[in-house]
Parts: sequence; C-alpha cells; structure tokens
Amino acid sequence: MGANMARRLKDVGYTVAAVYDVRADAAKALAEELGAEATSRLSRVTELSDVIVTVVTDDKAQLDVFTNRKDNLLIGAKGRVFVNCATISPKTHVAVEKLAKSAGASSLEGCMASSITQARNGTLYLMTGGDEGVYEKVKPILSKLSDDGKLMTYIGKAGKAFFTASGTEADETAVALAQIATGRQEIIALRHGYSGRSLLAQSLTAHAKYRAVPTQVAAIKHAHAPYCYRCPYGATIEHCGIRCAKDIEELIQTTTTGQIAGFLAEPIQGVGGFIVAPDGYFKVAVDIVKRYGGLFIADEVQTGFGRTGTKMWGIEHHEGVEPDIMTMAKGIANGLPIGACLATVPVADAWKAGNIATFGGNPLSTAAANATIDVIVEERLPENAAHMGRALRDGLEALKAKYGHVIGDVRGKGLMQALELVKDEKAGDRTPDGGAVSRLFEETKKQGLLIGRGGLYGNVVRIAPPLNVTRAQIDAGLAALDAAFGAFAETTP
Ligand SMILES: Cc1ncc(COP(=O)(O)O)c(C=O)c1O
Repeated sequence: MGANMARRLKDVGYTVAAVYDVRADAAKALAEELGAEATSRLSRVTELSDVIVTVVTDDKAQLDVFTNRKDNLLIGAKGRVFVNCATISPKTHVAVEKLAKSAGASSLEGCMASSITQARNGTLYLMTGGDEGVYEKVKPILSKLSDDGKLMTYIGKAGKAFFTASGTEADETAVALAQIATGRQEIIALRHGYSGRSLLAQSLTAHAKYRAVPTQVAAIKHAHAPYCYRCPYGATIEHCGIRCAKDIEELIQTTTTGQIAGFLAEPIQGVGGFIVAPDGYFKVAVDIVKRYGGLFIADEVQTGFGRTGTKMWGIEHHEGVEPDIMTMAKGIANGLPIGACLATVPVADAWKAGNIATFGGNPLSTAAANATIDVIVEERLPENAAHMGRALRDGLEALKAKYGHVIGDVRGKGLMQALELVKDEKAGDRTPDGGAVSRLFEETKKQGLLIGRGGLYGNVVRIAPPLNVTRAQIDAGLAALDAAFGAFAETTP
C-alpha cells in the first residue's frame, strides 16, 4: 500500500524525498524506483523535513484529492514529500509536524487526543487523514474541546480530550484514566446503567440482557440507581432523603477496600429507560465519592450536547457537581463514529503510557463533529431542546391523564422523555408491561412514528427527537402517539 500513491505523486510533480517503511527491504525497493532515500527510522524523516506525510492508500478518490492539491501540506517547508508505507490498512494519515504554532497551537496544546501522538514544547503532532483543508476543519473541534474552548467550561477551567471511535472506548478510557490518576482500581457504577459492549463496559453495565459474558472486572460495584418510580427503598420522592445516594458510602465501606478510583454514572440513565436522578442525588453521591478519594466520571454519551435542554451537559443540571472526567459519543458527529473522553488537566496528565486509537479523531468524523457542534451552538439547540422538550413533556403528561392505567410514569429532561408502561397504574399495579410497548409499537408503526424502547424490563417508551425538532413535528408526533394509544387501548383486553 502506498507505493501507488508515491508513484502518482511523483508523476504529478512532487519530489519524493524519502520512503519510510519499518520493513527495510520494502522501503529500499520503492526508494530506488522513485529516486528517494529509504529509511526505517521516523527520526530520519523528521530530519529531512518539517512536514511528515503519511499516505497509505490506493483508493482512487483519495489519490485524486491528494494529487490535485498543489498547495496543501503534502509539500513540506522544504518542498519535499515523504511517503510512509509502514501501515497496511487502506487509510490515509497525514502527520503534520511543527504546525502547532502557525495554526494556533496554544489553544490546541491542551488536547490529548489519539490524533495527537505527542505534544512537546508546544509542538503538535497531528495524525489524521486528509490535507490542510481537513486540518482546518479539525482544528476548531480540538480548540473547542481544549483549554479555552467554551465546551470545556463545565469541567473547570481546563481540560484535555482523547478522541475515540465510540462511547464504549470513551468509557474504557475514562475508567482506565481514573485508575491511573488515583493509583486505585475500584469503581462504583449504577444498576440499570449502560456503558457499552467491551468486556469492561459489560461489567459496568447493569442489565443482564446486555451482558453476554459474566462480570470480568471484579473491581466494579453497583450502587442502587436513583430510580424514583421504582425506589429501591420503597420510598416516595418527597420523603426519601436520597437514601440511594447515601448508600454509596456503605457500599464503599462494605464492598470495596475503601480506596476507590471513581464513580461512573449517566446523568440520566439512557438504556435504563431515561431514569432521571432527583435533585440533590448527584451532589450527595459525588461528595461521598470524593471524600473517599474517587473521581467522578459523568457518562454524557446520551445526555451530552444539549439533549437535556438549556445546558450542554446533563450533569450541569445538578448544581455543585463537577465531573473530573466526562465521556461523550453518539450525537457528537450526527451519526459519524466519534467519541471523546475529557478530563481535567491533572487527571489527564496522569496517563503516561503510549496512547493511540487509530480511528479516534479521524478526519471525517472530526469534521462532521465540528460541523455538528457549530450547528448546536449557532442554532442554540440546547434552548430548542428545552422549549420543544417542554412541549413534548406537556403532551406526554396529557397522554398520561388520558391513558393513566397503562402509563405509569412520565419522566425525562429536554428532548429525552420517556413513558413507563405498567399493568395498571390506577389500580396500583406497577408490574412492568413490556408487552404493552410491543402492542403500542404496532400502532405507532401504522402512524409512521419512530420511537424507542428501553428499561430493564423493556417497558419504557423512549422519545428522543432530533435537537432541531420543530413545534409542528412535536405536535405531529404527539398526535400520532395519541392515536396509537387510542387504537392500542381499544385492542387491549
Ligand atoms: C450511556 C452510554 N454509554 C456508553 C455507550 C456506548 O456507546 P457506543 O455504543 O458508541 O459504544 C452507550 C450506548 O448506547 C450509552 O448509552
């Protein structure tokens, strides 16, 4: 791979100065053909130019992009191009060295990203595909997530970001980081939580049906979820004293060494059925965790980027609670794969080992993320989520008033709203009714309404429309839901 690219570049007038390949023979053969120097040492490549270009592709479209641009970063300060044939997968990587200062390095310095393999003395090493145009698109998202970026304000004055390709990886990174930063192992997670599909994430996850294998990471202990509709203590919200949060202290004292690394929680449990923690829960829980030396990891994979209304992050609804680490994914790039683990500087800096995620921070996803964040910020979508969320919630409350036997609970924040369906709320029977959701979905399908299912018992209807949903769409969705409940009620014995 890459040889064709090198030939093509030469054909269109570039000077191929060096061929870098860890396999000396391969480098030599291609270098001879191209009249270039062969090397298996990256340091030699850096000696030869200010810019390292790693191009590994035989893809026609990518080749065209590269070879048609004469003014991009493929030409280094010394007008030379270096072709790296070390990587064998069909992807394109451009490593841009010493670009940081000319491209506003001070704002990028705070980033720890897979895309940045090393940052020293203000020098940025960016490994990402594409060309200068792509870099220009990637730069703002890095800036936004770094020290002076607005989006970092939630996490204190400064933070660093590590980009991944999924939420699972972001959670993996977060837990490892908490362990490294504290020098401890044990993690508190929540029942009904969902963290993804890796071995660690499955161990964090507290839903039997998503656990294909038994707990692999024994150092994870699960506290009660703040599931008020089904309070683990049988209490009512008015008089509960947030016992579920307070119990975390006993959980630490009885099931751990007392030396915890951290507490991972979703501000609203997504897969769990949009379980919303009551006011005060996170303050009590996180204070306990910090008292025992642990870090707080807020998993914003579902709640992030304005979904909960007004605020950019779900955890911001809980006053006085500051995460040390945050994870995010899903909506960042409007469907393209990207995740991120953000941490305060001291916590992020604890990670000393080599760290790379090949596709983390890839150019396509970061460009899409950048564009998505721009739209979220410029179009004030968190505010839209709050307003439309209010309208949605009012409509759902009206449905509960109308179909109060089957709709046991209405809950959520912003554009993250749920209905929990039960056997007969009015008769005091809260037996989860997953079958009711299935029957309802048959009707919503006929109405052309797309909604989701969640909850441990599969009995929660999850409604999370796009952040830019309009009032007319909300009203249409509610009307469809009303019609579906109406038809469903008729067919229900
Ligand atoms: C809260 C939460 N964390 C982590 C994940 C895992 O994200 P991914 O599916 O991108 O790996 C999910 C996925 O649904 C999630 O909801």
